[in-house]
Amino acid sequence: MKVFASSDYYKRFVSPLCKANSELTAGKSEISRFSNGEIHALVHDGVDHEECLVIGSVAPPDEQLLTLLTLTDALKRSSATRVVAYLPYLGYARQDKFAPGESGGISLIGALLKSAGVDEVITYDTHSDLDGQLLGLPLVSLSPTQLFVPLVKNLGWSDVTVVAPDKGARSRAKTFAEELGSNQPIAYLVKKRVDGILHFNLVGKVTPRVVVVDDILDTGKTLVSACNMLRIEGVQEIIIAVTHGLFTGEAWKRLFGIGVKQLFVSNSCPEAVAQKHPMVQHVPLNSYLPIDSLYVTKNKKQFEIFAI
Ligand code: R5P
Repeated sequence: MKVFASSDYYKRFVSPLCKANSELTAGKSEISRFSNGEIHALVHDGVDHEECLVIGSVAPPDEQLLTLLTLTDALKRSSATRVVAYLPYLGYARQDKFAPGESGGISLIGALLKSAGVDEVITYDTHSDLDGQLLGLPLVSLSPTQLFVPLVKNLGWSDVTVVAPDKGARSRAKTFAEELGSNQPIAYLVKKRVDGILHFNLVGKVTPRVVVVDDILDTGKTLVSACNMLRIEGVQEIIIAVTHGLFTGEAWKRLFGIGVKQLFVSNSCPEAVAQKHPMVQHVPLNSYLPIDSLYVTKNKKQFEIFAI
């Protein structure tokens, strides 16, 4: 299978992936712009009757989406038989509930990917179990838990509660606690808004040291409120493990003044890679891509979400 990506993702993912998997070889392509700024993709390698993996993103800046679409289109026009899009962070997945009059976020992204020629999508830790259906493409969601857990184990903490910052994050927290070998049941927080202010109720018991596990840190406000609540409940030390770090604004920095000792984040997003805060530790996904996950469509496992 040949692997293609725009320059940013090429440097971070293509070489490590190809080194780690003998079935993958790096493909050459070029993304350029017309003088008025329109994006153009050119595939230099022959891909006639070949399967291709395209690495990229659908998240802002919006040119990432257009780059992915044009590159996929160029591959299909060059007679690639199948294109698998590897999107470490599946943007727009939080737009999974549509009130009347609203746009269809993740479904629209799925339709665009499909029309460009994407046959299957692989990501990490997708936002909800509904995403496969809403995307309208076979979706594999890999779990990064086994990459985070050794880092938490290295801290040598004995009694630890794994905490989900909302109800939707409970299954992620359970997987994390099992992998960690924690003897404590997980705890979770229930979010509610009163007059526009976010309040949390804690469900379950917490030990003085906890690990809070979430899929996305955007502004960090959810985690700041959650950690404040945990402190009120007697928690002294907190570790955060978050898969996708968007790091919008400055609010997330407040975490380190309220008991958070370390924030582990994967390198799924360029924003996380760019973040050089001393308390933020990057967890590389680069060479971790189980080969089986590339063949979901071929194996006819349609619309399935895997936690590998
Ligand atoms: C919400 O359902 C997500 O899992 C995250 O908790 C949320 O997107 C984080 O957003 P922010 O960091 O802006 O609070």
